[in-house]
Amino acid sequence: MAHTDQPLYMFANWKMYLNYDESNIVAHQVATYAREFSNDVTMVVFPSALALYPVGQTLRDVGVSVGAQNIFSIETGGYTGEVSAAMYQAAGCEYALVGHSERRHLFHEDNHAVNQKMLSTLAVGLIPILCVGETADEHRENKAQSAIEVQLRAAFNGVVWPVGRPCFVAYEPVWAVGSGTACDPMVVNQLLGEIARLVGGLLPGITPILLYGGSVRSDNVAEYVQGENCNGVLVGHASADAVSWRGIIEEAVSTKKNFNLNV
Ligand code: PGA
Repeated sequence: MAHTDQPLYMFANWKMYLNYDESNIVAHQVATYAREFSNDVTMVVFPSALALYPVGQTLRDVGVSVGAQNIFSIETGGYTGEVSAAMYQAAGCEYALVGHSERRHLFHEDNHAVNQKMLSTLAVGLIPILCVGETADEHRENKAQSAIEVQLRAAFNGVVWPVGRPCFVAYEPVWAVGSGTACDPMVVNQLLGEIARLVGGLLPGITPILLYGGSVRSDNVAEYVQGENCNGVLVGHASADAVSWRGIIEEAVSTKKNFNLNV
């Protein structure tokens, strides 16, 4: 665990799993227990664009923030179907996922688009969570590190990091996201260390907050948050159910507490 005195970052990406009513129900359920963990956890929920506003209103009172799953990099104009970073920011959103693997691979967003989204997110005052990770082929060919480096260099190209804005990077191997096959925790820890080193070179003076994502569940979260470079997790499928999400948070928090007792 990188900073034992710091909170664990528990980020819930609801993807397209919950409709409007379901999102509000899960938000109310999460609100019933979120405060129990507020000393140990910084929680952010990423609902659908449609549900973000009411979910944000419900969770605000219990110290949980909301984030956008995706933003469009132009602020305003004739872009049918898109929602800009500025629009999210005005609706009470504080965070945004940038470069999620499902955006990169299912919607063909290239590194240039990711860079535009990074710049736009930062410009309106949102906190980006940059997602990077290698494909299954790159994994097989032992090219994870070089793939991540290319993505980091492109995403931070021309970025002047705003003073005081936290810098989040989530390592999410493409083959582990939504697959049920999570990445080896030792490899995750090693690559997170590599990401910290690379970000330190690209953004001098910035220490990134590092997350792992990809098939995290209550029975494997402990292995990730024990890693000295890991500050938390970005969870998809298992976060869209309030009971399952609570189980993951409980495991992560008790792992952290045991760790602190033993150092
Ligand atoms: P998953 O998704 O937990 O469903 O694998 C992770 C993510 O997309 O952030």
